[in-house]
This record gives sequence, structure tokens and C-alpha cells, in this order.
Amino acid sequence: MRKLVFATGNQGKMKEIREILADMALEILSMKEAGVNLDIQEDGTTFEENAVIKAKAVQEATGELTLADDSGLEIDYLNGEPGVYSARYLGEDTSYRIKNANLIQRLEGVPMEQRTARFVCVIAAAFPDGRVETARATIEGVIGYEERGENGFGYDPIFYVPEFHCSTAELSPEQKNAVSHRGKALRQMKEILREAWSK
Ligand code: IMP
Repeated sequence: MRKLVFATGNQGKMKEIREILADMALEILSMKEAGVNLDIQEDGTTFEENAVIKAKAVQEATGELTLADDSGLEIDYLNGEPGVYSARYLGEDTSYRIKNANLIQRLEGVPMEQRTARFVCVIAAAFPDGRVETARATIEGVIGYEERGENGFGYDPIFYVPEFHCSTAELSPEQKNAVSHRGKALRQMKEILREAWSK
């Protein structure tokens, strides 16, 4: 059976990738399961750079095909902030209650049509032959006036999707996977892998 390593320590992401790639007859290992314990400097300035840095570092350590993702929230009114710094915004250990309240406050008085934002996800694949491929996907929304919903994580409670009339923290995990930046990027990556293996 083909092997693939997903360069994350996040159990939620592992579950999602296992579900989406379930029909591909693959053995999917987390970094830990592959015996890798690397502290990777994510010092790129784009989601693509960071995803590729992670995928290549773990590919080189394991010798196996490796996928890695990088994601974040871009708010147009704040010139794309927090962007690639989403996890580190106001400090890695600061709670999302505080981060979300701060972003709402920075948009005080800004009308709905200027509160546009998107979650972005880039997945990189580093192949054993040195080839690298990336897949990028987004979900468009607006920053709300208050936090809503208990599901999801991070910035989900302030990210409203107008077509669903709710925040992504009010969607079930299945609903969110079907429309999210990460779900869409993973499904694109699945097609890239199929194509690579069909040759
Ligand atoms: P990373 O891709 O794991 O490095 O983290 C990206 C950061 O972006 C997360 O820590 C969250 O702050 C934010 N983020 C990415 N995707 C989502 C999402 O689906 N919901 C809420 N926040 C997200």
C-alpha cells in the first residue's frame, strides 16, 4: 500500500485528511507516527512558502511522500491581516476570545460591505523525487459584529458566510468540511495525487 505522511501534529487535521482520502487505499501517517519530531521554522511570507517549507522538511526526514498545509484568515479592510500570521496574531498563546474581540474592535464602524474576508488554505505535496505541487482554496465571508457559534476553532465564531446566514462556528463539522478552504484544497490535492500516480 502507498504511504503518505501529513506534516501536522493536529489531530483534527489528521481526522479530516483521513476522511477525505479514505477511498485512495493509502496508509496515512501523522508526523509522530512517522517518527519525526522536527521544530520547523515557518518563516515564509506566503501560505505557499510555508506549506512547501513544512512538506519538504518532513519529506527529507522520512523519505516518504509528504503533505503539509498552511492556512489563515485574510481581512480586506486590514490589508490582508492577520494572513500568514493568523496563528501568531497577538501571540501564539493568546486566546481566540481576545484575538476575535480585537479584530471586531479594529473593524468598529466599518459597514458590512467593507468587512469582506476569506479563509485561505494551501496544501503542498513534496514527492520523493524532489517534485513539489501545491493546491490553494478559499472560503469567502465577512467579519461579523459579534462572536457566534461553538463549533470549529480559531476565528470561526467571527467568520460569517452570507450564503449560509451563519458563522463557520455554527456549521457542523461535516457541513464545514464540504465548503471550507481546507476541505476544498484537500480534494484538489487528491486529484493532483491521482494524476501523479496515473503516469
Ligand atoms: P496553521 O495553518 O495550522 O498554521 O494555522 C493557521 C491559523 O489560521 C489557525 O491557527 C487559525 O488561527 C486560523 N485558521 C485557519 N483555518 C481556520 C478555520 O477553519 N477556522 C478558524 N480559524 C482558522
